[in-house]
Amino acid sequence: MAILASGNGTNAQQISEYFAGNPRVEINVIIYNKKDAYVAKRAENLGIEAKYFNRHDFYESDNVLSFLQERQVDYVILAGFLLLVPENLLGAFPNRIVNIHPALLPKYGGKGMYGHHVHEAVVANHEQVTGITIHIVDNRYDCGTTLFQAKCKVEPTDSPDDVAAKIHLLEKEYFPRVIDSFIFDKPMPQSTAIAD
Ligand code: GAR
Repeated sequence: MAILASGNGTNAQQISEYFAGNPRVEINVIIYNKKDAYVAKRAENLGIEAKYFNRHDFYESDNVLSFLQERQVDYVILAGFLLLVPENLLGAFPNRIVNIHPALLPKYGGKGMYGHHVHEAVVANHEQVTGITIHIVDNRYDCGTTLFQAKCKVEPTDSPDDVAAKIHLLEKEYFPRVIDSFIFDKPMPQSTAIAD
């Protein structure tokens, strides 16, 4: 498995820790596309190789694809990865690229809707409920088949940071388990966060 990330890397770390010691899953590499991304430091602490690729590597060459193929990667996990996945990767990993989005898609998805921008929009629109969506990646931002959603309440007094904290808890609880269920064809976890 390869994890792609752009920033802090809490999800990358949680996935790596969840699968550590599992003889059937290897996190082979954490790929990042922003030079100063803290995820590289997390990878180092975890003893996992971190590999930087720039826009050219993703969009104007087969550098990333060749690298993943050399490593015999089966699944690509987007954990806070903010670039649109290029066609060559989509073609090479059909239904094998999974993303997490910090909202209940199709709400608050699309270009520019990522990370804190999502939580700010959720608060600005006085949503009472938000959540996470884990989905298969296709060639559009935040579309593709949904594998799992979990919800949390938004209180009227919640700031975007408060919402972010709730979302990170959901991500921690569910993202690694949903990946596990997806790749080994097991039932998805039951979301107990809040009732429908
Ligand atoms: C996560 O909340 C993830 O859902 C979001 O970025 C954050 C990354 O945090 N992803 C997107 O917004 C994708 N559109 P992390 O770097 O600490 O894992």
